Amino acid sequence: MSEVLTITDSRTNKEYKLDIQDGNIRAKDLRQIKVNEDEFGMMSYDPSFENTASCKSSVTYIDGDQGILRYRGYPIEQLAESSSQLEVSKLLIDGELPSNDELSKWVNDIKEHNSVPNEINDIIGAFPKSAHAMGALTSLEAALSTFYPESKNITDEDENYRSICRLIAQVPILAANFYRHTQGLPIVEPDNSMDYAENFLNMMFKGDDNKMHPDLVSAMDTLLILHADHEQNCSASVMRNVGSSEPDPFSAVSAATAALYGPLHGGANEAVLQMLTEIGSVKNIPNFIEQVKKKEVKLMGFGHRVYKAYDPRAKYLKEAADKVFSVTGTNPLLDIALELEAIALSEDYFKGRNLYPNVDFYSGLIYESMGIPKDMFTVLFTIGRTPGWLAQWKELLADKDQKIARPRQVYTGYDSRDYVGVNNR
Ligand code: ACO
Repeated sequence: MSEVLTITDSRTNKEYKLDIQDGNIRAKDLRQIKVNEDEFGMMSYDPSFENTASCKSSVTYIDGDQGILRYRGYPIEQLAESSSQLEVSKLLIDGELPSNDELSKWVNDIKEHNSVPNEINDIIGAFPKSAHAMGALTSLEAALSTFYPESKNITDEDENYRSICRLIAQVPILAANFYRHTQGLPIVEPDNSMDYAENFLNMMFKGDDNKMHPDLVSAMDTLLILHADHEQNCSASVMRNVGSSEPDPFSAVSAATAALYGPLHGGANEAVLQMLTEIGSVKNIPNFIEQVKKKEVKLMGFGHRVYKAYDPRAKYLKEAADKVFSVTGTNPLLDIALELEAIALSEDYFKGRNLYPNVDFYSGLIYESMGIPKDMFTVLFTIGRTPGWLAQWKELLADKDQKIARPRQVYTGYDSRDYVGVNNR
């Protein structure tokens, strides 16, 4: 039996019946609600899309109240424990765990694109060495599109597959080559005998064996898996919004990277380290918490639009951190982070607002211990998240319900008025 929502408009006393599908109504069905026939019809006002589903998706499931995260139905903890970033990428993008043969083909197809055009390295050389890595990465991803103009043909599935492989292969190369540039070091060519995370760390740190310890390589792969997708967050929504106007996927990934850069999203991992450094000592935590409660500052790495419980990625990371610290030695900021978390979780301000650590609270501490510079933290998030964006993009292209994304507005400005010349104002 079909379900309906009955609405009575108190302005007209008219009754409307709106179909309910999957527990929701279609926003466009509200448009039939109007006082006069020549009106546009009712919309729902939803700044920041707090209560708007922009798509149907079968990629990632989150239960924010229970702290559950699954990719294509598989719990994140199981994937982090047993899978690899490239296997997870295939799962996200194609919907199923690959067979042995499928996985080998996928890994080989990605390795086939494991290099960037020489001119990209010239562009990297032109960036100031002090440039923020995310600013450079955003530009470099967009620049890649100019070398692959055929990627604009997004109705060609083979072309899209090539673009997907290129982006997964080349975003780590852009990141590592930019890092080497900032350090005045020569580029390290990708090594196809290595796995994905190992190759990335090698391109960053070749010759520094401490940073290439197998436990650190394994931790890096796990970190990438934990960051691989998170349904319709700010950057994934940007990927879909930009993708909906049908540019090449390099440009859309560049836009999504820009969205991730912000401190309220992926940039929080860097901001957490900054915050812990500024707090400086456990004894300063109560004073800092008071500042948070007065809303003078935010407790970075806490809070989430969807999770109203402990972020399962943060929970996993907190436990996995020990493995890294047993190789690198404990990060001195860890004590501050643990105490900060304990105090925050006992305070009514945080309890009443369901504010818990999110993925960014512990990831920065781990990255720093691994010798990754602060302004590369969000770059690592980008490398991890690129397959998720691409899975969202692929799903968007196949979705017949989707058109160019174009929200409406509630206009609150002037009525028509006449222009007045500058000398008469
Ligand atoms: N520190 C202090 N107070 C906070 C925090 C925080 N980190 N987060 C939310 N609050 C407060 C808000 O001030 C608000 O209080 P109020 O009800 O008195 O006005 C209440 O909690 C609800 O917060 P909103 O801002 O409405 O929550 P929203 O869903 O819009 O924001 C966000 C979510 C952006 C993640 C926010 O919690 C935040 O800024 N956190 C810090 C930055 C951060 O860690 N971002 C990473 C998120 S995870 C990711 O993107 C990968």
